[in-house]
Parts: sequence; structure tokens; C-alpha cells
Amino acid sequence: MTTADLDRAMVERAARLALRGHGDAEPNPSVGCVIADADGRVVGEGRTAICGGPHAEVVAIGRAGDAARGGTAWVTLEPCNHHGRTPPCVDAIIEAGLARVVIGVRDPNPVAAGGLDRLRRAGVEVEVRDDVAAPRRLHANFLARIATARPWLIAKWAETADGDLIAPPDRARTISSPAAHRMVHRERGRVDAILTGIGTVLADDPRLDVRTRHARRTPRRVVVDRSLASPPDATLFRTPGGPVIVAADADVLDAHPERRDALAEVGATFIALPADYDAGSDADSGIDQRRRTSPDALRHLMHVLARDHDVATVLTEAGPGLLNDLFDADLVNTALVFTAPRSFDQRTTTNPPRDRLDHERYEPLWKGHRGGDHVVWWQRV
Ligand SMILES: NC(=O)c1ccc[n+]([C@@H]2O[C@H](COP(=O)([O-])OP(=O)(O)OC[C@H]3O[C@@H](n4cnc5c(N)ncnc54)[C@H](OP(=O)(O)O)[C@@H]3O)[C@@H](O)[C@H]2O)c1
Repeated sequence: MTTADLDRAMVERAARLALRGHGDAEPNPSVGCVIADADGRVVGEGRTAICGGPHAEVVAIGRAGDAARGGTAWVTLEPCNHHGRTPPCVDAIIEAGLARVVIGVRDPNPVAAGGLDRLRRAGVEVEVRDDVAAPRRLHANFLARIATARPWLIAKWAETADGDLIAPPDRARTISSPAAHRMVHRERGRVDAILTGIGTVLADDPRLDVRTRHARRTPRRVVVDRSLASPPDATLFRTPGGPVIVAADADVLDAHPERRDALAEVGATFIALPADYDAGSDADSGIDQRRRTSPDALRHLMHVLARDHDVATVLTEAGPGLLNDLFDADLVNTALVFTAPRSFDQRTTTNPPRDRLDHERYEPLWKGHRGGDHVVWWQRV
């Protein structure tokens, strides 16, 4: 194996390790690190654990101990060079006596960057392997958040083989298998917010809580409800879980204090959406005279969630209406799609969100099965 091949394999190994940290590390990047001694034997591995805990490099160095001296570290992201919640990782690398560091992605965060230059100045050989896809895909979440100041948005939906999301009235409302639901609950327990639309609240009366023993965080529950139509006795407000935020039109919030007060009484807080954005009715949505929520309003909502509520990751569990609005706003970073091997007697979804996953903009990162359902993780290219 050439050094280049070994570097690629090790950076990919570090990325696989870091993937397991999704939901632990955010808002920090979930970093992975593998260390080999001077003879090439792997002597330490680590990933960034909970935010504020030690970074991947420090964990791996701790495991490697003296064996790190003269060895190589493969890290998915440029080691940090600043005193944040923890001391700089570059100091730990220099102190451990590592001879060589190979990284996957440069750190775009101006506060933490500069790590490579420091290492080089300290005599450590440094290489950047930005041609390897795995760390780029891994850190797409962090890179996008830094670039946009918005959360990373995962759109999850369950569909039939024909792409329908809405069960006919005479059918059970769930489309996917219990195993698929378990996977969804695992994802819910790894994000900062679950986002849905008023159409879903009225049709399904969901809880949007996390029902798994493995929850890493308790997500806020956010409803896009422009006209404050949420019933105060909706299950959402009565189920223990993250705080509920209702995103409504600013003029509706002003004009209907009685509706606002009724929801505030059951614990809701509000985000005001700017009023000047009515994008007109959406004839294709299947909802009569539905007003589309404009890209500007949805981007505003995402900014406020990041800025005022520390939300780094959002899982959307909505119907085709809100899902298509989010695609229109180009806010969907990842899609988690469960396709059940069945069809309804008639088509129920005129604009299936699956049509938005064209291969030029989204690539399938992972395919698998949960129960009888086919599952695909798509990610923005
Ligand atoms: N298969 C899945 O993964 C999945 C997940 C969630 C929901 N669903 C199904 O999707 C359906 C709901 O989807 P959706 O597209 O209608 O809603 P949605 O995506 O939850 O919400 C989108 C928008 O639809 C409008 N809307 C829909 N019904 C409304 C109503 N009765 N009153 C006021 N506004 C309403 C609202 O827009 P404005 O306020 O801007 O007018 C709302 O913001 C349900 O049948 C639900 O079972 C399926």
C-alpha cells in the first residue's frame, strides 16, 4: 500500500468513527482521529464527544500515550488552534511528539483555524487530503452552518412506492414499518429541533417527542403555523418533551392576541415571520388556496432558530406542503427517505418531494432497509 492509499484509508476510518458522534458533538464539528505509532500500528482512536468535552485528537492521544511519539495522526478536520471550551488541539499534538498529521478538511472557522501553520512551524509534517470525499461529507454539516449561520436541515419523510406521503382517510396513518419508526426516534434524539407544519399538526396530532433509550438531546418542537391555527389542546402541548415554538405571521401574532395567549398558556413561545412575503397560492400542492411560505420567511425562521435558540440541527417531519417549501428555499441539506413497498388505491400526493432529489443536487450517501422499507440518506452535493 502506498502512503497516499494508507492516508486515504485512515482518513476514511476517522470519518466513520466521527459519524457515530452525530448528536453528541454539535454545535461543534463531530471530528474523528486515528493515530499510528512510528511503525504504523494503530495505537489510538477517538472522536469528539459531547460539546465541551475533549476533542477527537486529545482522546486519541490519551489512548495512544507515549506510543504516539514519532507517529502519524489522521484527523477529519484541521486541529483547532484556539482556547475555546477546551485548550488548542495543536498544543496536544505537538506535546505528544507526533511526527506527521494528515487532515481531511481545512477549518473554515476563522476563530479556530491556523492549526496547520502552527504545526508546520513546530516541525510537524502536515498533509491535506481534500480529495477524499468522506471527511468533506462528514463535515458538510459544520461547513454549511459556518457559511450560512443557519442550522443543518434533515428532511425526513415516509412514502409509498409511488411517492405518496398522505394516507387516505380510510387507512392507518402510518406508512412505514416499526423498525423505520425506531430509526426516526434515534434521529429525533440527535437533533436540536423537530420541525413540522400546521397541516400535519391538524391531520396527525403528533407528539414529536423522542421515544428511544438512546436519546442524546431533547429537541425543541417547531410548528410553522402562520395563522395560529394550532389547537391549544393538541397533543404536542400536552406531551413532555422539548419546548414548543410556533412560527406565525407577525401580523397574525399582533392581530390575534387571544389565540396567541391561549397557546402561550400551554407553553408555546413564538417566532414572528416577516409579513411581506405571501408567495401566492400553490395550485399543485393539493391544498386549496394554500399560501406558500416563502423562501425568505423560512430562511428567517432558520436564522432565528440558530441565533436565538442554539439550534444546530433540524429534523423536518412534515407533509408535502412544508417539505416542498423548504426545497424551494434551498434549505434541505439532507433527506432521509423511507419508501414502503406498498401503494394506495389512488394517488394522494400531487407533488411528491422525491421529485426534488435530482442527482445533480443530491447524492445518495447510504442505502439500507428497516423492516420492509427501503431507506436512503441523500445529501446536497
Ligand atoms: N409521510 C410522511 O412522512 C408525513 C409526515 C408528516 C405529515 N404527513 C401527512 O401530510 C399531510 C399534511 O401535509 P400538508 O402538506 O397539508 O401540511 P404540512 O406540510 O404539515 O404544512 C404545510 C402547510 O400546509 C398548510 N395547511 C395544510 N393544511 C392546513 C389546514 N388544515 N389549515 C391551515 N393550513 C394548512 C399550512 O400552510 P399556510 O399556513 O402557509 O397556509 C402549512 O404550513 C397529512 O396528511 C399528514 O398525515 C406525512
